[in-house]
Amino acid sequence: MKKSKLNNKTILITGANAGIGKDTARQLALLKTTKKVYLACRNKDKAVIAKRELEEITGRFIFEIVIMDVTSPDSVRKAVKQLNEAIDAVILNAGGVGGKTPRKLTKEGVTTITAVNLLGHVVLVDELLKEDKLNNVVLYASSEAARGIKQTGMKRPDLKDSSVAEFEAVFNGELFGDKFDPLQVYGVVKYGGTLWMSYMARKYPSIKFISVSPGGTRGTEGMNDLPFVKRILFKYIGMPVFMPLMGLSHKLSKGAERFVDSINNDALQSGVFYASKENVLTGPIVDQSRIFQDLKNEVYQNNANEAIRRFIN
Ligand SMILES: NC(=O)c1ccc[n+]([C@@H]2O[C@H](COP(=O)([O-])OP(=O)(O)OC[C@H]3O[C@@H](n4cnc5c(N)ncnc54)[C@H](OP(=O)(O)O)[C@@H]3O)[C@@H](O)[C@H]2O)c1
Repeated sequence: MKKSKLNNKTILITGANAGIGKDTARQLALLKTTKKVYLACRNKDKAVIAKRELEEITGRFIFEIVIMDVTSPDSVRKAVKQLNEAIDAVILNAGGVGGKTPRKLTKEGVTTITAVNLLGHVVLVDELLKEDKLNNVVLYASSEAARGIKQTGMKRPDLKDSSVAEFEAVFNGELFGDKFDPLQVYGVVKYGGTLWMSYMARKYPSIKFISVSPGGTRGTEGMNDLPFVKRILFKYIGMPVFMPLMGLSHKLSKGAERFVDSINNDALQSGVFYASKENVLTGPIVDQSRIFQDLKNEVYQNNANEAIRRFIN
């Protein structure tokens, strides 16, 4: 890997006790340039176990736990207050299909699937900026689902006018009515998050904001909350057996490598969403607006940003 001009010494990762977040922490610790990795996790016991394992595997004692539940703005604000230094790179990794109750509204009025993938991360970045604790780069863990994945049946987000009201209805779940399928809603929420990142890139030109998908990544916990049949199909048959043959899944270290490489890749441009080429979920990453033009529509970016902020005090 070429040395980055950004010189990211201190990195914070949300959802760092498992899956891609944890492996990203491991890979970062193997870089001499990394001096500190903050593991932002909601569960202290799991975080302590992950920290110990990471120290054992890497031989480095540079991990620090920050307790943060990204579904709770209060928890995020408290965690940022406790940080004693500025962060060079922030990896907004926590996310997924929203646990066992993806549709349940949080006290802010968004669905849990929105809270975990987006709301808390918006608060996190705002608070870091407000406290002057963000130096170089923000990476948002997006997904190819945000531009649709034909092969897995995840449809391209098909909004009527991508207005503020429509995004609000995405974030509080009203848009989906009785057809609340977490796998489909997930793609639309990640789409909203990706647009928010592009808005932030325009608003804060001195910080780099990139959305990156890890690609179809095996060996994570992400599928555990899906309904039984979907879980068996995806986790135990699709992901390990058929998807690798079709270029639709790669191993955990490959998914995490995308994050590690991207925060240090000076060629990636702020405001852009990078993920796999059109018909695969592995391999090199490319600008997704070539596949789904709506991603670079600045009005949509502004609308997604305004809509999510309606749920933040
Ligand atoms: N795996 C893939 O194929 C894939 C593809 C595209 C995008 N992504 C995205 O990549 C990211 C990582 O996915 P993954 O597959 O590694 O997921 P994962 O194995 O399920 O891990 C998710 C991590 O997020 C944490 N988390 C969940 N809710 C949280 C909350 N409210 N506050 C703080 N942390 C929370 C989990 O902690 P707990 O242990 O406490 O639950 C866990 O550490 C996600 O944003 C996902 O949407 C994944």
